[in-house]
Amino acid sequence: MNRHFDHDVLIIGSGAAGLTLALSLAKSAKVAVLSKSAVNTGSTWFAQGGIAAVLDDEDSIEAHVADTLVAGSGLCHEDAVRFTVERSKSAIKWLIHQGVDFTREQNSDDYHLTQEGGHSHRRIIHSADATGKAVHSTLIEQVQHHPSIEIFEHHVALNLITQADAGSRKLRCTGAYALNRADDHVHVFQAKTVVLATGGASKVYLYTSNPDSASGDGIAMAWRAGCRVANMEFNQFHPTCLYHPKAKSFLMTEALRGEGAYLRLPDGTRFMPKFDERAELAPRDIVARAIDHEIKRLGCDCVYLDISHKSPEFITEHFPTVKARCLEFGIDITRDPIPVVPAAHYTCGGIVVDNNGQTDLENLYAIGETSFTGLHGANRMASNSLLECIVYAQSAAEHIASRLANVPAPQVSPNWDESRVTNSDEDVVISHNWDELRRFMWDYVGIVRTHKRLERATHRIKLLQKEIAEYYSNYKVSGDLIELRNLATVAELIIRSAMERKESRGLHYSLDHPDMSAIARDTILVPTNFAAQDIIVSA
Ligand code: FAD
Ligand code: SIN
Repeated sequence: MNRHFDHDVLIIGSGAAGLTLALSLAKSAKVAVLSKSAVNTGSTWFAQGGIAAVLDDEDSIEAHVADTLVAGSGLCHEDAVRFTVERSKSAIKWLIHQGVDFTREQNSDDYHLTQEGGHSHRRIIHSADATGKAVHSTLIEQVQHHPSIEIFEHHVALNLITQADAGSRKLRCTGAYALNRADDHVHVFQAKTVVLATGGASKVYLYTSNPDSASGDGIAMAWRAGCRVANMEFNQFHPTCLYHPKAKSFLMTEALRGEGAYLRLPDGTRFMPKFDERAELAPRDIVARAIDHEIKRLGCDCVYLDISHKSPEFITEHFPTVKARCLEFGIDITRDPIPVVPAAHYTCGGIVVDNNGQTDLENLYAIGETSFTGLHGANRMASNSLLECIVYAQSAAEHIASRLANVPAPQVSPNWDESRVTNSDEDVVISHNWDELRRFMWDYVGIVRTHKRLERATHRIKLLQKEIAEYYSNYKVSGDLIELRNLATVAELIIRSAMERKESRGLHYSLDHPDMSAIARDTILVPTNFAAQDIIVSA
């Protein structure tokens, strides 16, 4: 049976961004949180290195801002960078207040700060090498005990609901349709305000550090509802994921290099110093491209990350998760170099928002990895992402709370129409298209791009989208079909954006346009049904 649920605020996504927002709003609103799987699905749970923040007296807001701008290759919005960094200390204080147990210096109450690529200071606060789990489990614990927050696990949002008020053509967002995987029905979730906190889209690539949830659902839903999407060509490839036939996408945290690990070729030679004076601690785009270059030059499967020159005690204390995971594959990181390859890791682009997380569509917000705030520019600096999740969730919460009383209740929305669809008889179409899409994105729209490869990808995505659209209009929706449709939309947006950028900058590297233009411009895609019409949210 199709059901209707009514809340003040509907949050789609239960990662760091969604749960911070839920907790920050719960005093003033009745909140629903949807998660397409269990509440702890999402990239947040897997975050390792930590959260960047200005916490040390020797460090400064100016230094953190400057490092972020350098990593972002001229494309960061300085106002967004400043906005985020200035709030970093209070964001960490808030997390500590929620109960997150960050690692302290030995025999001291001071927090241990680690180092990562692009940072000129030690400024990464962390919980050993499993920061995401520490943050996420704490937030989940708080949310589960809050009387104003209702969590709906295994509910996949598939489309936003929009309505126009009587006498107006202007649409506002009033909810979402969501498939409950348990009863296989699509239910209506109505709310005065809707927030997309659905994470990134790295699953669009064959090899990724991300969990399965990262299928860009929020970006695709917002695009369909008329919101602008920006800088989708900047897909961050993390330089070091474990290379092992049985290891499904396990990250080797950048903090390993921050604490002195070297990258070596199969013959043991270090190679990063010849690519960049910052060597292993150069920003990620540079390290990933160097590894890709060496792997292609030598025809080898991987390179090696080596921390064995540090004491076993130090390694065990700082990297217990990485050590234990590698041991499962017979690699003892206190002695052996670790085989690594780059993999898709982070979506720098996303739904265009302002500093309050407001999108182009009234009463629709986007926060966390799904959003485009301007913070990351052409390349996100390590550990700035969790910070962005907390800071923007809090600013969105303040903005939503201040407006809620004046937002009219939604009119009743119609049920999801399933009268013209039947059960799928050919699920192989979905699994085949998933594989094909992720493979051609890896081969043609990966770390190094060319015009010809992008043209091939354009051709492929058009064919796939036609097939998926037909499938979608004839068969009942399933979780896999919803994700495939969204991945295809996101792939199209990535390819279009990459085609538009006629230069190499940050994470977008084109053999046809190897130089960086003198002028830095965002790639902003505007949908044909642009929701804001004459109202512009600054991008
Ligand atoms: P997520 O945590 O990805 O959560 C997304 C949520 O949305 C999930 O609950 C999912 O179920 C839900 N969802 C998605 N689609 C739907 C839908 N259609 N319907 C309902 N629910 C939906 N960043 C750092 O700053 N520091 C680090 O050390 C760090 N390490 C990382 C390590 C790894 C292995 C990975 C993958 C990422 C790492 N990152 C790190 C990046 C960072 O973890 C993410 O950018 C951040 O956690 C994103 O949080 P989020 O709340 O936006 O999304
Ligand atoms: C890592 O630990 O290397 C990931 C950090 C990040 O993605 O910010």
